Amino acid sequence: MPAPSRRPFHNPRQPGPHAAGKPPQGKLLQGKAHSPHGQPAAPPAERGWDPVAAWYDKLVGESGSDYHRQVILPATLRLLDPRPGEAVIDVCCGQGVLLKPLLDAGCGQVTGIDASPRLIAAAKARHGAERRVRLLTADACAPGAWADGSHDAATCVMAVHDVADAVALFANMARALKPQGRAVVVLMHPCFRIPRQSHWGWDADQKIQYRRLDAYGSPRDIPITTHPGKASGEQTTFHHRPLAELLSAIGRGGLAVTACEELYSHRRSQTGPFSKAEHRAAQEFPLFLALTARRI
Ligand SMILES: C[S@@+](CC[C@H](N)C(=O)[O-])C[C@H]1O[C@@H](n2cnc3c(N)ncnc32)[C@H](O)[C@@H]1O
Repeated sequence: MPAPSRRPFHNPRQPGPHAAGKPPQGKLLQGKAHSPHGQPAAPPAERGWDPVAAWYDKLVGESGSDYHRQVILPATLRLLDPRPGEAVIDVCCGQGVLLKPLLDAGCGQVTGIDASPRLIAAAKARHGAERRVRLLTADACAPGAWADGSHDAATCVMAVHDVADAVALFANMARALKPQGRAVVVLMHPCFRIPRQSHWGWDADQKIQYRRLDAYGSPRDIPITTHPGKASGEQTTFHHRPLAELLSAIGRGGLAVTACEELYSHRRSQTGPFSKAEHRAAQEFPLFLALTARRI
């Protein structure tokens, strides 16, 4: 994952605050944002991620981005606590970054589903030969044979905000699980990481790096340019949902939240005039939200 910049939040795959050296800039990017309620549906997921599949596969690579390796995957595995022989399904698996850790944990069957055929093809290229792996191109929001009540545990990693219908997503995750089956959901923190609406700021008097939110309480669809600076026109859509809407969607989907963790950056700024403030900010503002849940 490329080094995070101090520019306003631009790409949810680049969430870190620490570039060190200069005070944070407050320049705003105006995004076209609107409530999804009553609006035309977001573009199909296939269109959203297939065109950027090669970029995302390269970004994540064999073992994950820096944030995957250092923060997201360790937390997912710790909270999931996969046991030998278990059947686990990774919903919105992308190019399959979680599959190897699940296999290494001894899972008896690992299923990955994703709406992007190209990302599923990338996952198959890496893990398709493993007899315990099953990979399917499927819309997580639509009925599917994979949502069959056969899995001990389900995961959805860094994808809830990429899915247009959160209730349908969680309902299908619940349907995929055995009764009381476990789920782990990790996502961009909905309170502090809102593309185009959350920024770092620098208070020169207090010498504090602060987090500024320009909007939070309205659900909104935010276009994300996957190659900032290049005129490729490749975009995905980030579906921001306030915390109450997110938690309610989980419950409406048939999952009961059992624990919540907020995950912080592992990165530390280089020594310099702002490093103390940056360090404090990294410890005070979480990047990701991790939830465990059970099928009700
Ligand atoms: C940021 S990627 C995360 C992928 C993977 N979990 C990871 O951590 O690398 C978001 C993924 O959500 C998938 N996605 C978005 N909407 C979807 C839907 N309705 N059904 C299935 N997958 C979907 C995209 O195709 C993409 O692979």
